[in-house]
Amino acid sequence: MNLEIDRDRLAAEIEELAGISDAEPPAVTRIVFSPADLKARAWLIARCEKAGLAIRQDPVGNIFARWAGADANAAAVGTGSHIDAIPNAGKYDGVVGVLGGLEAIRALQRCGARPKHSIELLLFTSEEPTRFGIGCLGSRMLSGAMTPDAARKLVDKDGTSLEEVRRKAGYSAPLEEVKLPSCYYKAFVELHIEQGPLLEQKQIPLGIVTSIAAPASLRITVEGAGGHAGAVLMQERRDALCAAAELILAIEDVAKSSGAIDTVATVGICDVFPGAVNSIPSRVRLTLDIRDTDLARRDAAMRAIEAARQTIAAKRQVAISEEFVNADAPARCAPAIVEALSQACAKHGFASMKMVSRAYHDSLFMSRIAPVAMLFIPCRNGYSHRPDEYASPEDIARGALVLAETLASLAS
Ligand code: GLV
Ligand code: MN
Ligand code: MN
Repeated sequence: MNLEIDRDRLAAEIEELAGISDAEPPAVTRIVFSPADLKARAWLIARCEKAGLAIRQDPVGNIFARWAGADANAAAVGTGSHIDAIPNAGKYDGVVGVLGGLEAIRALQRCGARPKHSIELLLFTSEEPTRFGIGCLGSRMLSGAMTPDAARKLVDKDGTSLEEVRRKAGYSAPLEEVKLPSCYYKAFVELHIEQGPLLEQKQIPLGIVTSIAAPASLRITVEGAGGHAGAVLMQERRDALCAAAELILAIEDVAKSSGAIDTVATVGICDVFPGAVNSIPSRVRLTLDIRDTDLARRDAAMRAIEAARQTIAAKRQVAISEEFVNADAPARCAPAIVEALSQACAKHGFASMKMVSRAYHDSLFMSRIAPVAMLFIPCRNGYSHRPDEYASPEDIARGALVLAETLASLAS
C-alpha cells in the first residue's frame, strides 16, 4: 500500500475553512449553528461528497460521511473531530481531525485500499461550550451521556433554545434518534493538535493519547447589594464583585495547592451587573472550568471550592449559588487502538510518545460506546484557543498519514 497524503491540498483546505469565520483573520470564530458554522458545514459536505462519501446528518447536526466497506454489516471504524471554534480562536483545533480525517480516507482511496469495515468521518456538533454552555454536545448525545430531555432544556445567552436553533438550521427530527448503539463503531480514532507544548519541547512528532482528563464546569452566581458608588460607605457594602474576586482567588489557590500539576481550574467568564462605573455591583455571574486526570482529586478540589464558597458568602454577607453544568469521568484509551497507532508510527519510522490529554475532546464521550484513542501532533509553543495557534503542514500531513495507516489496519 503506497499511502501518500496530499499535504498541499490539506493545507489549502485548512486555510479555506479558516476563511469561513466571524473574526478578523488570522483569528477564527465559528459558533455552532451560526451562519458561518452552517456555511462551513455545507462546504465540508460538498468536499466529502466529492470524495464519494455517503452523508447522513442526525437531529443534533452531527455529520457522518461514510466510505462503505466491503462488508456493509460490519461495525464501522470512525474518525473525526469538530469545526466549531471559540471566539478569537485559531485555525487548527478540531479542524485538523476533520480535514485530516477526510484526507486520510482520500489517501486510502487513491492507493486502492478496499477495507472490510466502513470508514466513517464524523463532524461533531458543538465540541466547544460557547453557545449552550456545555462542551461535546454532539458526542455527549451520541453516547447517551446527555439525554434528549436534558438537551431540550439548553438555551443560549439570548434565551434561544437548542430546539429552536437546530430546527432553524434544518435539523428537525426527534433528538431521541441521536444516540448510537454501542456496537455501531468497532473503533474510533481522533487526530488533534496537542494544545500543549510537550511534543514540541521533546521534539517528538506524534503523541499517542492513553487517557483524557476529567472535566467539570459550573455556573456560579454571587448576589450582593447594589447602590451608589459615592454614597454607600465601605462598611455598609455587600459588593458582589469583591466577593467574586475573593472566590476566584480561592479557586486558583485550591488548584495550585492540590499537590498535582494535573489539577487546573479556570474562571473564564465574569459578568458584572449592572456594570456601571458609579454603581456597586449587585450581581456577578462566573463560570468555573475544573479538570484533573484523577477523578477523586478533581472531586476533592471541587469540595474545597464549595467550602470556600460558603466561607466567603458568610464573611461578605452575600448569597453565592452554583449550578452544575457537567462533571464527567476521565476516559481510558483502548490498548488495542493505542497499539495500532504505535505500530503505524513505527511502520513509517516516526518517533512517538504516550501522553495524557488535558484538554477534553469528543473522544471522551465516544469512549463510552466504542474503543477509542487519539493521535496528537505538535502545535507551536503549545498555543491553542488563540489566533496564533499553528501546526505546520508537515506535522499535519504526518498525522494524517499515521491516521490513514491506523484506519486501514483497524478496518481491514
Ligand atoms: C476543549 O476545547 C477544551 O476546552 O478542552
Ligand atoms: Mn477547543
Ligand atoms: Mn478541539
